[in-house]
Amino acid sequence: MEAITTEDLVVNGIRFPAVAHDEESLRYVQHEFQVRDDDVFNVTYPKSGTTWMQEILTLINSKGDLSLYKSSPNWDRVPWVEQKTGRGNLESRPSPRLITSHLPVHMFPKSFFGSKAKLIYTVRNPKDACVSLFFYCQIAEFLKTTENFGDFYSLFMKGDVIYGSWFDHVSGWLSLKDQTNILLMSYEGMLQDPRGSIVKLCNFLGRDLDDVAIDTVVENTSFKNLKNNQMSNYTLVPNEFIDQRKGSFFRKGISGDWKNYFTVAQSEEFDKIFEEKMKNFNLKERFGW
Ligand code: A3P
Repeated sequence: MEAITTEDLVVNGIRFPAVAHDEESLRYVQHEFQVRDDDVFNVTYPKSGTTWMQEILTLINSKGDLSLYKSSPNWDRVPWVEQKTGRGNLESRPSPRLITSHLPVHMFPKSFFGSKAKLIYTVRNPKDACVSLFFYCQIAEFLKTTENFGDFYSLFMKGDVIYGSWFDHVSGWLSLKDQTNILLMSYEGMLQDPRGSIVKLCNFLGRDLDDVAIDTVVENTSFKNLKNNQMSNYTLVPNEFIDQRKGSFFRKGISGDWKNYFTVAQSEEFDKIFEEKMKNFNLKERFGW
């Protein structure tokens, strides 16, 4: 990472943390990056279960072998394609590559479309994602923040936060959800049934894990175990970038925490906008939000 700044890079009207992105890497990823048929992508809007999925994919890939999980940080095991550090690094990796992205669909590598690569898109109740992002901005020194949640809520609703509007991100990706190489997962579904979710992922990825290996994946990707794993919990990142003296990256790991932060008026306004913008997707019914 370079010198710390809270000035975001703005491309296509979307904010990206300048500490890890530049225009050239975003252009390169979209137009030149070569997706391979055996790539596996972990795509999310921020704070929707990205790290959790990075760990699950690592352990599915290793059939429950914990060596990499214990020796290499998640950002290196399942790196972000759009970050400056991704360029050159991913190209030289052996297959099958595990790759993370927060990109909206219209900025995603063009070579993915038409490839056989598999992509998992994880959604989370946006009210919880909003609260989680508010707290993340308090500890991520390279991100702009607001003192109180109310002001942050207003930015979130305008899409004036990193990776842009939740509504645009999710509706963009969900428009592709019926493609056979895309699997839609939810944070809440993973919380409710971690084992079933991992089995579903194995089936989608065509990975054959026995019961013992599945149990190892479930156990080692629990909130508690990830929070305690130095290679998962971002404590290797210096405090000048992510200051966990102010709060933990693995904060609560629950659903419904938004009720402690949204006012009734904010929640009602949110619901109205959600109904309008997401009416085609049946998300509340599907995921129990
Ligand atoms: P909270 O801030 O609500 O606790 P991301 O990895 O996309 O940045 O998302 C981070 C959020 O996922 C945080 O939410 C974090 O605690 C939660 N999380 C990570 N691993 C989890 C797990 N195994 N179970 C439940 N929540 C988890």
